[in-house]
Amino acid sequence: MDDLGHALASGGAQVKMLGGGQPARIPAMNAVWEQRLAELTAEAGGLERALSVYDPPRGNPRFLAAIAGLFRDTFGWDIGPDHIAITPGGQTACFFLFNLLAGRMPDGERRQKILLPLIPEYIGYANQGIDGELFHAIPPLIEKTGPHEFKYRVDFDRLEITPDIAAICVSRPTNPTGNVLTDEELARLSALAHSHDIPLIIDNAYGAPFPGIIFEPAIPFWAPHAILTYSLSKIGLPGTRTGIVIGPPAIIRALGSLSAIVGLSNPTIGQQILLPLVESGEILRLSREVVRPFYQAKCERARQAAREAFGDDLDWLMHRSEGAIFLWLWFPGLPIRSHQLYERLKARGVFVIPGHYFFFGHDDAQWAHRHECIRVSYAVDEVTLRDGLRTIAEEIRAAGVSAVARPACS
Ligand SMILES: Cc1ncc(COP(=O)(O)O)c(C=O)c1O
Repeated sequence: MDDLGHALASGGAQVKMLGGGQPARIPAMNAVWEQRLAELTAEAGGLERALSVYDPPRGNPRFLAAIAGLFRDTFGWDIGPDHIAITPGGQTACFFLFNLLAGRMPDGERRQKILLPLIPEYIGYANQGIDGELFHAIPPLIEKTGPHEFKYRVDFDRLEITPDIAAICVSRPTNPTGNVLTDEELARLSALAHSHDIPLIIDNAYGAPFPGIIFEPAIPFWAPHAILTYSLSKIGLPGTRTGIVIGPPAIIRALGSLSAIVGLSNPTIGQQILLPLVESGEILRLSREVVRPFYQAKCERARQAAREAFGDDLDWLMHRSEGAIFLWLWFPGLPIRSHQLYERLKARGVFVIPGHYFFFGHDDAQWAHRHECIRVSYAVDEVTLRDGLRTIAEEIRAAGVSAVARPACS
């Protein structure tokens, strides 16, 4: 992360930043934000609500009611404002939840873990435990789904809920792969969590119904034991630091206490910008008609650019793009480790994220796959992406990857 920050700060035009998780600028969404800011400035008390008050620690009461109403009316979920808490971004929501549920318990010794039923999983979770390693992760099944394409699936045969598991967690769509757990996989995970009386955390940072960067028909999931996290970042408001958690009232009350202790109150501006869009349901239309088509078209162009850059003479695959803003590239038999590939690319001004960082919670160092993947953001402009992909292909060729002997997917 340090490298990426320095590269952005000092790199200039020659840096190809394919590494970060910055959302794209979507002109139609920027116009909505500009209009909302103008409305807040014009309406009586608007600026005060947006900038000049401490809201209650759990969030602005009218916003909490609007969020509960949106999900209740749209999906029939049996929730009210007591099921909702605001946090300073989805990242903080995860930090609060993981450390609330897992880690060292009040009896001093027992270390509870978060089960990740499928890795690779979001790099931002990896170091969130204030009490050391928090995760127990299960490697996926790998299914070949097309020429140069594969998909990870949950390996339910390896999934065991031992007494030290405090919760199950997935991101859907998954950062870094763009995988979307199927409705069936989610239903099985939910049943498993329910039967062991533990929560199922679903991180919807890219998910449905907002921001809706999800290209497969996937039903938004809720159950009384589910904890859902949402974010305003990928719809275009990362600077407002607004996370939304839907969960059982006892967990939500604890999140409110954590917000009070850690930060008194949460950022208000994102909630005030969004409020009328949530109350009218307009946020759903914008996600469906603006954000999703924007990213889907960009994703298709990115996949085409990857096919052109890597061609057929190289042994390479990309994960099926079912959502999120990344290409997840796999070079089976890569003679160097993804970290070395990262260093070679960095020397040429191209920044990606080496894949091994996303395989935390599972310590099989012999598993070659974890060193053969990289994450590339396609939210950047297309010239940068195409140039970057061409450079990656050159380095892959220079490293000696060829079209021979692709290992069988399991
Ligand atoms: C899967 C996932 N969860 C959570 C976050 C955190 O987002 P934020 O804190 O901006 O809401 C991100 C950010 O990229 C993400 O990719």
